Amino acid sequence: MTDLNTLESDVLAQVAGAADLSALDAVRVAAVGKTGSISGLLKTLGAMSPDERKERGAAINALRDRVQSAITEKKAALETAELDARLARETLDLTLPGPYRRKGSVHPTMQVMDEMISIFADMGFAVAEGPDIEDDFHNFTALNFPEKHPAREMHDTFFFEPKETGERMLLRTHTSPVQVRTMVSQKPPIRIIAPGRTYRCDSDATHTPMFHQVEGLVIDKGIHMGHLKWTLETFIARFFETDAVTTQFRPHHFPFTEPSAEMDVQCDRSGGEIKIGQGSSWLEILGCGMVHPNVLRACGIDPDEYQGFAFGMGVDRLGMLKYGMPDLRDMFSSDSRWLAHYGFSGFAAPNAASGLS
Ligand code: PHE
Repeated sequence: MTDLNTLESDVLAQVAGAADLSALDAVRVAAVGKTGSISGLLKTLGAMSPDERKERGAAINALRDRVQSAITEKKAALETAELDARLARETLDLTLPGPYRRKGSVHPTMQVMDEMISIFADMGFAVAEGPDIEDDFHNFTALNFPEKHPAREMHDTFFFEPKETGERMLLRTHTSPVQVRTMVSQKPPIRIIAPGRTYRCDSDATHTPMFHQVEGLVIDKGIHMGHLKWTLETFIARFFETDAVTTQFRPHHFPFTEPSAEMDVQCDRSGGEIKIGQGSSWLEILGCGMVHPNVLRACGIDPDEYQGFAFGMGVDRLGMLKYGMPDLRDMFSSDSRWLAHYGFSGFAAPNAASGLS
């Protein structure tokens, strides 16, 4: 049996000496593979006498088992060593600077929102909030949208999958549901603005599927269109920091206001830039009107006692006009060069006393 002992120590030495997984596999194939040295020994059993076969067979099988388990053990050791080496090799220095060493800046939309908040806060408005994911009641029904009325479709609403109850939640199409949330939870007099994100399935140079609005709501005794017009015209003059901006009110329809109007700002859109105070174009920037008596009633306010006005303005569009960006879609394309050009310093916090922009 010395031949078996020699073979065993030979193969075990090769296993121990295998430098990596592929070398180990070569050793395995040469020993216990189909045509390997140990498999070859097993094939010689057929020509032996039964007694010889019994003894020799048991010895060869035991040898094969020992070699096999030595290979398995070595394989596990090599795999662990390989993983350790990879972990050591693949360290990442998180303190290294990134490829673009640009200072962060405030997105124009956030800057414009802060400017709006500071102007309205100065006029005595408080800031109210509501969720981006709304239900049908707050986004439509309480705002006097008739059931199945095409006005619901007009809004290009993003709906969620219906719940088991059949109710479909939606991404709010405007900030007007915050009017409802405020009126059901507060008693008049009310004077709030509600800045936030809004969503509609729409995309071109002046529409993006996600955009920002600032809603306004005033509820008190004896409120009329004159209050609405003064508030908006005063806001526009302060926002653009000039009296030279020309605006126009156009009659319009919203289910939740009566009468309703839209306000446009005169601008020039020739030459790939947008300029105010000149030109022959008008850009619609807000919708407004006197709060519809049905909306007041839906929120538990007596329309014979209280009246109010509301408006909803496009924040991103006002930013385009004020800072001369020609295409709304660029605002949300996350291009760091665009942000470097149009972004604001974090220290330039707008404030009605020290200036806006
Ligand atoms: N919610 C309207 C819109 O998004 C704007 C609006 C708000 C109109 C308040 C009137 C009063 O188009």
